[in-house]
Amino acid sequence: MDIKYLGHSAFELNADGKKILIDPFLVAVPDYKPENIYNIFVTHAHGDHLGSAIEISKKTGAPITAVFELANYCAKQGAKTQDISLGSWIDYSWGRVCAVPAFHSSSTPDGQYGGCPCGFILEAGGQVIYHAGDTCLSSEMKMIGEVYQPDVAMLPIGGKYTMDIEHAVKASEWLGATMIVPMHYNTFDAISVDISEFERQIREIGKMPLILKIGG
Ligand code: NI
Ligand code: MN
Repeated sequence: MDIKYLGHSAFELNADGKKILIDPFLVAVPDYKPENIYNIFVTHAHGDHLGSAIEISKKTGAPITAVFELANYCAKQGAKTQDISLGSWIDYSWGRVCAVPAFHSSSTPDGQYGGCPCGFILEAGGQVIYHAGDTCLSSEMKMIGEVYQPDVAMLPIGGKYTMDIEHAVKASEWLGATMIVPMHYNTFDAISVDISEFERQIREIGKMPLILKIGG
């Protein structure tokens, strides 16, 4: 899978020629045009993750995959949706996806309960990517490491609302992934970090920090 970073926790993946968006909050990439999108995954209902998902679904016809309450919210606004439960796989032509636990909260932009927040395991072309969503460090990451064996882990590192660098390093050890992609940092002041410190600490535990340029 090719990975393009769209800022904050947003990524565009390309799996077998199919473009997939995760948490498409796109303020960092004003020139990005979401075209030919095949699937959209949203980890929870907060605005900095739901982002433009509904609009993009309506425009492209790509279904939004999210937990039941959030999928229902999106469907009511006219998006195409598919609900997913924690621990269950959904098969696609390009691979398969499972929702895994995240410890956080979730409410829609108008204040409704957004269901349980989650992370996603995406399997395609013999590669396993874990997108953690917004979460604290949790022992679930030991389970995720053992059961799903991710090659690449996308982890929030900004602190305040999620794990910080120190906890993301511990998570990386538990997950066993070799490549660690930082996210949810430096979007605004409350989550600003020294990214060179993340790079240093990830190298120190023998893993590869994959610091992606926004839009690249
Ligand atoms: Ni959040
Ligand atoms: Mn967030």
